Amino acid sequence: MGQDAFMERLSSTGGIFQCKIYLLLLVMDCSGLKVMVPSQTVHGIRGQALYLPVHYGFHTPASDIQIIWLFERPHTMPKYLLGSVNKSVVPDLEYQHKFTMMPPNASLLINPLQFTDEGNYIVKVNIQGNGTLSSSQKIQVTVDDPVTKPVVWTHPSSGAVEYVGNITLVCQVEGGTRLAYQWLKNGKPVCTSSTYSFSPQNNTLHISPVTKEDIGNYSCLVKNPVSEMESNIIMPTIYYGPYGLQVNSDKGLKVGEVFTVDLGEAILFDCSADSYPPNTYSWIRRTDNTTYVIKYGPHLEVASEKVAQKTTDYVCCAYNNITGRRDETRFTVIITSTGLEKLAQKGKSLSPLASITGISLFLIISMCLLFLWKKYQPYKAIKQKLEGRPETEYRRAQTFSGHEDALDDFGIYEFVAFPDASGVPRMPSRSIPASNGVSGQDLHSTIYEVIQHIPAQQQDHPE
Ligand SMILES: *[C@@H]1O[C@H](CO)[C@@H](O)[C@H](O)[C@H]1NC(C)=O
Ligand SMILES: *[C@@H]1O[C@H](CO)[C@@H](O)[C@H](O)[C@H]1NC(C)=O
Ligand SMILES: *[C@@H]1O[C@H](CO)[C@@H](O)[C@H](O)[C@H]1NC(C)=O
Ligand SMILES: *[C@@H]1O[C@H](CO)[C@@H](O)[C@H](O)[C@H]1NC(C)=O
Ligand SMILES: *[C@@H]1O[C@H](CO)[C@@H](O)[C@H](O)[C@H]1NC(C)=O
Ligand SMILES: *[C@@H]1O[C@H](CO)[C@@H](O)[C@H](O)[C@H]1NC(C)=O
Ligand SMILES: *[C@@H]1O[C@H](CO)[C@@H](O)[C@H](O)[C@H]1NC(C)=O
Ligand SMILES: *[C@@H]1O[C@H](CO)[C@@H](O)[C@H](O)[C@H]1NC(C)=O
Repeated sequence: MGQDAFMERLSSTGGIFQCKIYLLLLVMDCSGLKVMVPSQTVHGIRGQALYLPVHYGFHTPASDIQIIWLFERPHTMPKYLLGSVNKSVVPDLEYQHKFTMMPPNASLLINPLQFTDEGNYIVKVNIQGNGTLSSSQKIQVTVDDPVTKPVVWTHPSSGAVEYVGNITLVCQVEGGTRLAYQWLKNGKPVCTSSTYSFSPQNNTLHISPVTKEDIGNYSCLVKNPVSEMESNIIMPTIYYGPYGLQVNSDKGLKVGEVFTVDLGEAILFDCSADSYPPNTYSWIRRTDNTTYVIKYGPHLEVASEKVAQKTTDYVCCAYNNITGRRDETRFTVIITSTGLEKLAQKGKSLSPLASITGISLFLIISMCLLFLWKKYQPYKAIKQKLEGRPETEYRRAQTFSGHEDALDDFGIYEFVAFPDASGVPRMPSRSIPASNGVSGQDLHSTIYEVIQHIPAQQQDHPE
């Protein structure tokens, strides 16, 4: 571009156009010259090019536009880098290969950037027209090497026992300047606490003492002005437990520490507790005030028909061989038969089979009595009188079934009626003294009430 063309652009498009831009974008006062930099601080990477953008604007007609770049470090004199008038650049010969400017564009390109280039860069713009306008800006430049990926080391690498040991995490970075370390646990920053402490630079994290809560995904995040890198996740080994020991079964009913199992079923017990490393489990049976280990491992199978006793106490013991701690839980297994739990729990000598036979007999006799009643029944069922004979029969039926307390029983309700000789109104058997009941006289009742009543007589007056 020739000098004429340049000046044309400068005065018509360049100057006025730029002024309009800044009117629009920055609400600039167009009466004077204004120099602007987007950022007061620019972070550069060593070895790469760094561009320092500068904008300026004015509204007066200009004959000469002068741009000067200076460099200053703390406690040193500013150095001249390069300058320009109109379109001609006058560099400092010492730095001519490093700094580039394309006037009237005032931006500066530094290439390549070195640590020695760190400091303040001052740009000064002078406009010569009707008088002289002058303005300057300062940009702080930092130069850094990017961070390389950090590596975290754990001491001791073998891990530590909860409440006993300590763990130190060390973050190591090969390259990078002005490093700032930060520790993350499960992605969130770790703060100083009663158990967490940091080295002055934050590049080591000390956990003392370790607890189970310290288990997690740790990483080291290292930042500097030009980059940041995070280490791989590291999970320190922390030995703990056992905690929360409990026993569960695949079937059967669990109420508290008592498992109720149906006779004939095999039940599988599972003992579990939270610990690291995994516990070793042992199962202990307690019989007749003696205990002995019956199995090792987390599972125990009990075949109920092979168990001599209906009620057996067991203990599951969990042991962590690294922490040296143990825990145990006690539980009881009760073997029952479906529908006859009560009998089994009362510990009657009658076997379930005998009980079933008894109930069957009872039902058969009841049917016979019903048949007899239908045969003889002359009156309404409500006004029946009970004879001695059926009472005896019922008593026998009760004996067969092995029920002592019919009030508690299965609810067999029947009406059996007998000829009413006296015509005395029926009264609840409960109001009749037991001694009268045995005589068989004036006992008025339904069979339902007989069932309630007879067992009491049976105990008082065995025949
Ligand atoms: C800059 O350009 C203006 C206008 O064309 C001219 O009058 C002036 O002499 C130039 N200055 C220099 C140093 O070339
Ligand atoms: C200055 O030049 C750079 C490229 O070298 C360009 O990106 C920038 O927009 C220019 N600035 C102005 C004000 O023209
Ligand atoms: C130059 O500036 C003076 C005072 O600031 C003003 O009176 C004069 O008109 C200006 N000349 C031009 C050509 O703008
Ligand atoms: C853990 O650290 C505490 C205090 O920092 C120290 O007293 C203790 O001896 C350390 N324990 C181990 C196993 O290093
Ligand atoms: C830790 O990392 C592992 C694998 O990277 C992941 O499965 C686990 O969920 C993480 N734990 C937490 C608490 O973020
Ligand atoms: C170390 O980390 C703590 C908290 O994460 C922070 O407050 C402190 O400024 C850091 N120190 C340094 C030297 O980075
Ligand atoms: C069980 O053993 C303890 C201690 O050996 C003893 O005091 C207790 O009397 C024993 N109980 C039975 C029922 O044998
Ligand atoms: C701890 O128990 C595990 C099995 O759970 C076994 O492999 C390991 O050798 C044991 N360690 C010690 C120190 O006994």
